[in-house]
Amino acid sequence: MGATLLSRVLVLLWVTSAGAEVLVQPDFDAKKFAGLWYVVAMVSDCKVFRGSKDHLLMFTSNVTATAEGNLSVHMEVPGPDGCNQMDAEYLRTGSQGHFRVPTLGYLDVRVVDTDYSSFAVVYIYKELEGALSTLVQLYSRTQEASPQAMKTFQDFYPTVGLPHDMMVALPKSDACSSGGQGAP
Ligand SMILES: *[C@@H]1O[C@H](CO)[C@@H](O)[C@H](O)[C@H]1NC(C)=O
Ligand SMILES: *[C@@H]1O[C@H](CO)[C@@H](O)[C@H](O)[C@H]1NC(C)=O
Repeated sequence: MGATLLSRVLVLLWVTSAGAEVLVQPDFDAKKFAGLWYVVAMVSDCKVFRGSKDHLLMFTSNVTATAEGNLSVHMEVPGPDGCNQMDAEYLRTGSQGHFRVPTLGYLDVRVVDTDYSSFAVVYIYKELEGALSTLVQLYSRTQEASPQAMKTFQDFYPTVGLPHDMMVALPKSDACSSGGQGAP
């Protein structure tokens, strides 16, 4: 039992220090990052995600840059009961492009790579119901990510220990279009 606990602690330390090596887009510019993004693909080792990933749909994140390099993010997430709207504050921690989001349980969020005009790869280390997990999202300015954006995403997530079979490309949905209430 003691050995098992110790190995869990060591794994946790290893994961935490591996996470610390994840880089942030150099000279991240929150103003250029602002505006509407589609979250078109995700990959995660979170148990809840694994159980629901085949039912998730593409959603939008409308980003506004606020003072001090924080981001104010409005999400519209289609679900079985229509369009769910959520707001979250991404609080800058240290360097630009590096955040935490207490309301979503995101302990460490990094914009790893972005060209601002077409794609972004976002790394998230989070806690949900006491369980720690890693989530990587591919943001796209259009509903179809370019092949280069998809390749950048797929080249990145194995470096934080996420295998390809935990990735899902999110299908489009109309539940949140035009006004965000869905069709009556
Ligand atoms: C995104 O947010 C900005 C600022 O609140 C707003 O002006 C804009 O209309 C929003 N865009 C969409 C597509 O919702
Ligand atoms: C930005 O985030 C920091 C924490 O990183 C917080 O102290 C500050 O109040 C925030 N500023 C705004 C304008 O929300």
